[in-house]
Amino acid sequence: MIMKIKKAVFPVAGLGTRFLPTTKAMPKEMLPVVDKPIIQYAVEEALASGIEQIIFVTGSGKGALEDHFDKNQNLEKTLRDRGKTELLHTVESVVPSKAQIVYTRQSEPLGLGHAIWCARDIVGDEPFAVLLADDLIQSDVPVLYQMINEFDRLRASMMAIIEVLPDETDKYGIIEAEKAFNGTMVINSMVEKPKPENAPSNLAVIGRYILTPRIFKHLGKLKKGAGNEIQLTDSMSALLKEQPIFGYKFKGTRFDCGDKAGFQLANLAFALERPEMREKLIPDLKVLLSQMGELAN
Ligand code: G1P
Repeated sequence: MIMKIKKAVFPVAGLGTRFLPTTKAMPKEMLPVVDKPIIQYAVEEALASGIEQIIFVTGSGKGALEDHFDKNQNLEKTLRDRGKTELLHTVESVVPSKAQIVYTRQSEPLGLGHAIWCARDIVGDEPFAVLLADDLIQSDVPVLYQMINEFDRLRASMMAIIEVLPDETDKYGIIEAEKAFNGTMVINSMVEKPKPENAPSNLAVIGRYILTPRIFKHLGKLKKGAGNEIQLTDSMSALLKEQPIFGYKFKGTRFDCGDKAGFQLANLAFALERPEMREKLIPDLKVLLSQMGELAN
């Protein structure tokens, strides 16, 4: 029987220390890109890709995230009474109408592999997706949708891949892959955050995965790896000895919202996509850049 990808796991327990003090009392996933929290982009991508169950793996201090994806009766009533129909629709549409949201907790920050393992009973025995909201992607076709299409053909685990600069390999899981067809690669090995001199390539994994449930067998060993954390990459390496795993070069532009500069660039890119903002931003940016150039001279 061919199984559809219906469930998506969102690890959202991270502390967001890179964005302190903003993230002192606010989940990093709630940082806005233009006017929507980062996490909402990832959830919308999943919903547009046919996902029916959103599984958040949260931690302490993530209440705002839970409230965001729930109805806010008071706010909706006020907007309705004031005739603010468009805003009312914006607010209402945050809560998925067809998909279910489920929460579980990762009580200790033991790593990405551990976060996914925390969702094992909710996922059960079926292939599932994992989305890391920090990796924000601008694309015509949602990246998870592109990957699910490939999964339907290959029926195997798969990870989204980008090329990174050789000196950036220690920020990512890096793969060594063989041949490519239609942007899909056969992975031979992978390693978490290797130093540039030890990296097998400059092909980096970014936060979109489709995993077979067998991954839980390996995650369950709870073995610590790079950074003394339970790494997903290590369990995928173990899985690779039993099943093929593919790398997928998606169509789209990825922004690293876990990084301050990447987050600012994402804000600019998504703002420039909106005609009304683009019209104002481009001339203002030109002025700003030329003023900065003058200052530098
Ligand atoms: C995680 C993964 C890493 C992957 C990266 C993509 O690392 O462990 O393999 O390349 O996400 O964003 P993190 O960024 O959580 O340190």
